[in-house]
Amino acid sequence: MSFSHVIAFAVFVGAALGSPGLQAADPVAPAAAAPATAAPDAPAVPLKPGDATAGQAKSATCAACHGMDGNPASSQYPKLAGQHEDYITRQVEMFKSHKRDSAVMMGFVMSLSAQDVHDIGAYFASKVSLPGVADAKLVQRGEAIYRGGDRNANVPACMACHSPDGRGNPGAGYPQLAGQYADYVTLKLKEWHDGKTWGDEDRAKIMPAVVKGLSEGDIAALASYIEGLHAADANSTAAK
Ligand code: HEC
Ligand code: HEC
Repeated sequence: MSFSHVIAFAVFVGAALGSPGLQAADPVAPAAAAPATAAPDAPAVPLKPGDATAGQAKSATCAACHGMDGNPASSQYPKLAGQHEDYITRQVEMFKSHKRDSAVMMGFVMSLSAQDVHDIGAYFASKVSLPGVADAKLVQRGEAIYRGGDRNANVPACMACHSPDGRGNPGAGYPQLAGQYADYVTLKLKEWHDGKTWGDEDRAKIMPAVVKGLSEGDIAALASYIEGLHAADANSTAAK
């Protein structure tokens, strides 16, 4: 069974349904900090490749939630450390255009220029995601689906796109998952499972189709496995 087969059979709910998301628990009011941006009247210059040094200064407002080095203190915020620059850029553009709905993020990205976003993306991409720890009781089920999928439930192997060690594939737009907080991963997988989408581009249609057949237990197991996933694990598993 191929992935395109899985995806072709999935039914998409077009409308992104309102979801409680993470906003409710957010301690930092978006109005409290003004994002660091280039002057709005700056002359139109061609976009340069992301500059991590410039991005570090521009990411000061992001640090309150995502951590100075992209490793947040709280598991309600996603780790950005080590995430691919293009993936970060794409997400910020989707927040701006409301394709990816987040009241919290909206307040911080609207005034960022395209160059700011590339620089910030380059900065977080240059950092290293701190490995987490998986729940020993969930690892086996999580690993089985991550590496092999679930044929009966029409779920493809996550590693086919996100790679065995969770580093993803920047060229194809497949994000890094390794070490990501289980709380955040659970929330995203549940939202897609419940019909939420990130717009109607081909890339955004993949995950809602992938998660269709997952049970709540599967989602918890995958999220825990992903939080504990790092390069060394993938190697030792592959060597078994
Ligand atoms: C007040 C807390 C807060 C601040 C400040 C904040 N974020 Fe976020 N960010 C969030 C939350 C919450 C999410 C998860 C949104 C969702 O999916 O519901 C998120 C998600 C993201 C994502 C998507 C991550 C992924 O793995 O898909 C990116 C990229 C991001 N933020 C970048 C930024 C940048 C750049 C800044 C600074 C300009 C910033 N954030 C400031 C709370 C914050
Ligand atoms: C066919 C390729 C493909 C497969 C298979 C796949 N994914 Fe994904 N995944 C993607 C793409 C593409 C995105 C980003 C979507 C976007 O940017 O619109 C993504 C995003 C994600 C995210 C959000 C990451 C973040 O930082 O917000 C999570 C979590 C995730 N996938 C988990 C999984 C799990 C768990 C599986 C296996 C059950 C899986 N994926 C299988 C392509 C895939």
